[in-house]
Amino acid sequence: MRTRNGKNTVFMFSALALAALAAFLWIFSAAKGREYRAEAAVTAVPTSTVHAINLASAAAALSAQETPSPAGTEAADAPTYVTPVPAALAAEETLAPPTASPAPTAVYLASGSAGEGVKALQQRLRELGYLEGEADGQFGRATKAAVVLFQKQHGLDADGIVGEKTWRTLFGDSAHAIEVTPTPAAFHGVAESVPFLVNKQHPVGNDYVPEHLVYIADVIPSSVAVLADAKAQGVSEAVHALKTMLEAAIADGVGHWKIREAYRTYDAQKRIFNNYVNKYMEDGRSRSSAISATRLTVADPGTSEHHTGLAFDLNATNTSDAFVDTAQYVWLVRHCWEYGFVIRYTDEKDDVTGFLGEEWHYRYVGVEHARKMHETGMCLEEYLEWLGAAE
Ligand code: DAL
Ligand code: ZN
Repeated sequence: MRTRNGKNTVFMFSALALAALAAFLWIFSAAKGREYRAEAAVTAVPTSTVHAINLASAAAALSAQETPSPAGTEAADAPTYVTPVPAALAAEETLAPPTASPAPTAVYLASGSAGEGVKALQQRLRELGYLEGEADGQFGRATKAAVVLFQKQHGLDADGIVGEKTWRTLFGDSAHAIEVTPTPAAFHGVAESVPFLVNKQHPVGNDYVPEHLVYIADVIPSSVAVLADAKAQGVSEAVHALKTMLEAAIADGVGHWKIREAYRTYDAQKRIFNNYVNKYMEDGRSRSSAISATRLTVADPGTSEHHTGLAFDLNATNTSDAFVDTAQYVWLVRHCWEYGFVIRYTDEKDDVTGFLGEEWHYRYVGVEHARKMHETGMCLEEYLEWLGAAE
């Protein structure tokens, strides 16, 4: 019995071991099969989708490129986009079935984007004349302004964001070079010169008239800014820069602009100055006290920056708050230098400029000078001294 029982036990264990081995082999081969199928699926993707290259996939690759890659890998791995993307677009046009649903908007380049896609965008904008700066791969203000300009000139929504439609247009057949309204001479004359200093110590003659004056209404539409004086004038280059700046502000959601003051002749300045003096005298001041009080905020005729045609007083039309408390002012503090403007008079520098702060008064000096003044905090008098250009 013991022997038989012992044999039975051995037999049962052997049977169980065989069953376990069979089960293991079955599970292993099934798993292997799944693994092979998975590998096959992975390797099959490129061949099965090679004809389905379309804007969406090109754009997806592009957005993937926008995510920062580990240092040192981007330059080596990054493809150039100028050639491949239009080729992908062309491929889509010829290969995509006519009933294909529209490609999802996968291209999205906007303020803050960076990388090779932005570089390709900038190179294209440069080629077409919309962008002047270098293609550095950073989607900053200048790039946005260039995109807005491109969009405007191509009947697109001028939101400064490069989505599928803008991208397609940029690289499509309908993209055309920038159309610039011809302006009389020296478009960059101001920016390329040492800034013109007009102040109490540096007056201009009563017959001085700046070159290249234009009517602001001919350059800046009322949708961008309304004019206190429909006949207001300014130096062409400065007026164009003002337009670009206000358009950029609007694209950032800051609109409702008014241009309150611009170019003033000697006589216009004289009228304003005398009005102030008379008002102070009506309030009981002596003539000399009224003149002293006026001189804190109004320049004597011949010493006003408005006489240069390069200065503009800006205001907000959507609020009666002091300009210093408006969103428009906050935007200008951050960005005006990017368009070549400086806030000319600040309380901080009133001992140098001779005027109390004027948050509304913007002086065009060109982007390079404005950038340096912005970075160093120098007012124009200090900056010219630093340049060695002040007399
Ligand atoms: N308000 C400025 C200083 C001017 O009169 O030119
Ligand atoms: Zn002013």
